[in-house]
Amino acid sequence: MLILNKTAGVFFKPSRRKIYEFLGGFHFHPGKLFLHKLVLGIETSCDDTAAAVVDEAGNVLGEAIHSQTEVHLKTGGIIPPVAQQLHRENIQRIVQEALSASEVSPSELSAIATTVKPGLALSLGVGLSFSLQLVDQFKKPFIPIHHMEAHALTIRLTNKVEFPFLVLLISGGHCLLALARGVSDFLLLGKSLDIAPGDMLDKVARRLCLIKHPECSTMSGGKAIEHLAKQGNRLHFDFQPPMQRAKNCDFSFSGLQHVIDKMIMQKEKEEGIEQGQILSSAADIAAAVQHTVACHVAKRTHRAILFCKQRGLLHQSNAVLVVSGGVASNLYIRKALEIVTNATQSTLLCPPPRLCTDNGVMIAWNGVERLRAGLGILHNTEGIRYEPKCPLGVDISKEVGEAAITVPRLKMKI
Ligand code: KG4
Ligand code: ZN
Repeated sequence: MLILNKTAGVFFKPSRRKIYEFLGGFHFHPGKLFLHKLVLGIETSCDDTAAAVVDEAGNVLGEAIHSQTEVHLKTGGIIPPVAQQLHRENIQRIVQEALSASEVSPSELSAIATTVKPGLALSLGVGLSFSLQLVDQFKKPFIPIHHMEAHALTIRLTNKVEFPFLVLLISGGHCLLALARGVSDFLLLGKSLDIAPGDMLDKVARRLCLIKHPECSTMSGGKAIEHLAKQGNRLHFDFQPPMQRAKNCDFSFSGLQHVIDKMIMQKEKEEGIEQGQILSSAADIAAAVQHTVACHVAKRTHRAILFCKQRGLLHQSNAVLVVSGGVASNLYIRKALEIVTNATQSTLLCPPPRLCTDNGVMIAWNGVERLRAGLGILHNTEGIRYEPKCPLGVDISKEVGEAAITVPRLKMKI
């Protein structure tokens, strides 16, 4: 049995005696121990097939994941039918592995929670139909999960965080700033008007052919950029953060990506190399790109904190900013955000990197949160559909823009 150490955010294997001590007072079944509520979470919204069993105290009893990153890296991006096929090939094994590791049988589950929105239609469909079969076979309640809500709530599994808190979700498919007021109560303050930062970093990494770089060949684009940036000098390139005049909390990355593309093309000409070869200045470009993304994200987040404090939506002296999603595992971007939280007397919290990227634990935990709050638990799944597009919460981004808050300049010395 694996138990999540909440303070360190790592797994450890407790002794049998410790488990007995820990579980004293909880439900006891002959030969087997478990807490009352056990949720199986299933995630297939994009390119990871993941499952986990989590109990109501947030202990991760078992988890398994199959990542498709390597396949998609080779094809230069996610091809939805390929992702669908890989989910189909792996879902049964992954769910089986998570259940076996947890030593929980399906009949002992309190509910099955599955991502049904937003995401790739073909990918969501695999997780949903597999889950509905399980639900039907074992007569369990079903909890449909919003992928971004799950990212946002993960922090409550690893840290003691009360509502309200501000959440910045930055991944390959999403980019948003929202105020979390309850398990399923969000105010959307801003979002990307075009692509997400992870998508942009993936495209830049592809354009720089980082897959051919011996140190980066198995990394996602964002991770490769972070890795290479450490060896580069960001001051060799000057990319301007987007939307500097727009006093709202929206984001934009495609214009910046275009500027970077043009710069790469120019450098290829200067160095006399063909597209497909690695530039000698690739590390400098990676460092400058990462810095510009960090500054853009930090500025919009700074404004969101000021807006929430101005409107009394966040604690004045004890505001919490949670950052999650795949791009949140970037330590440089985290440091930029730390500069913002220090300047606004707020606290920055991030789930451990393995819980920032897509995983089954966050889905199961979202199921636990909903089960405890009595929200969205279905005993009849007739008519349930996946939704490829689905905003998070109530959109107040227009109001945020109208407030036109000027953000004080911060020195981004990272
Ligand atoms: O949350 P996630 O696993 O999937 C969704 O998009 O929902 O995020 C994947 C994204 C990819 O774009 C990947 O390049 C990016 O997160 N990413 C990173 C890092 N690790 C993953 N971006 C920047 N720095 C990283 N260390
Ligand atoms: Zn995600």
